[in-house]
Amino acid sequence: TMLDLDYKRKVVALKEQKNAVILAHNYQLPEVQDVADFIGDSLALSKNAATTDADVIVFCGVHFMAETASILCPEKKVLIPDLEAGCSLASTINVHELQAWKAEHPDAVVVSYVNTTADVKALSDYCCTSSNAVKVVNSIPRDREVLFLPDLFLGSYVAEVTKRKNMYIWPGECHVHAGIKADDINKMLATFKNADFLVHPECSCTSSAMYHMSKGDLAKTGHILSTEGMMKHARASDAKQFVVATETGILYRMQKENPDKEFIPIKRDAVCKYMKKITLEKVYNSLAHNVYEVKVPKDVADRARLAIDRMLAIS
Ligand code: 13P
Ligand code: SF4
Repeated sequence: TMLDLDYKRKVVALKEQKNAVILAHNYQLPEVQDVADFIGDSLALSKNAATTDADVIVFCGVHFMAETASILCPEKKVLIPDLEAGCSLASTINVHELQAWKAEHPDAVVVSYVNTTADVKALSDYCCTSSNAVKVVNSIPRDREVLFLPDLFLGSYVAEVTKRKNMYIWPGECHVHAGIKADDINKMLATFKNADFLVHPECSCTSSAMYHMSKGDLAKTGHILSTEGMMKHARASDAKQFVVATETGILYRMQKENPDKEFIPIKRDAVCKYMKKITLEKVYNSLAHNVYEVKVPKDVADRARLAIDRMLAIS
């Protein structure tokens, strides 16, 4: 719309003026992706935040991601355009619950998925994302117990791939991905026989996808990937059709970068309302008024940074 164009022009001008960079997650609205300097998954966004020479980072994603950016560059101003952009998965565990869990397993190594609050990361030994969770867990000596949190489906996937028996998994879930079920895969398999299936490991259908991958239906065409892994696969694969099992925001970028291929959402209503809180108008407002600053207290940030740095050293 005309209004969008107007905001787009203003955002581009303000960005220059303030030496700001706009980072956007793959699930962001199309018009927000269009003004971003960089789009990616949680890992790529943290790496980008760690190395940017901008003074201001406008983080278009959810709150824990902006916290991660603030932890990695404490001297920069990190802004989130709407403080209500939370995450149902990150809110399934708090510091008190983690402390109690650790007390039950005092010798365990704690691996926290990046979808956690900064204070939960500060109580963790390692951070991980969906693209490096297997690598991170594999780097831990096999005789050590592992507490993996907070995602049950990602955790079960990692336990299955690493064949670890001494891994305890927190029963958290993301409401969007938990809603993508085994039946959704079965329905799509019947219709799209030659398509590649791209499945995010937060989906409750992950174990079903793995079953099909081992049994044959998806032996060559099934792939469990982070959102950026999906982007790379979409580019590299010779397939013409892709069934995409994750939040639907990623389809905009996939289609834009691969105009000759067809991308089919496994579930049209797999939409994260938190990601969609960030609108172009709010991005403008954020830049214009320096709101809303996300700052992690130094003692928490210093401890959380250790867990993130241990992850970055491995991936
Ligand atoms: P990735 O982009 O790291 O795969 O994470 C997806 C996610 O659920 C973030 O909300
Ligand atoms: Fe959190 Fe799920 Fe939204 Fe990702 S899609 S931000 S995990 S609620």
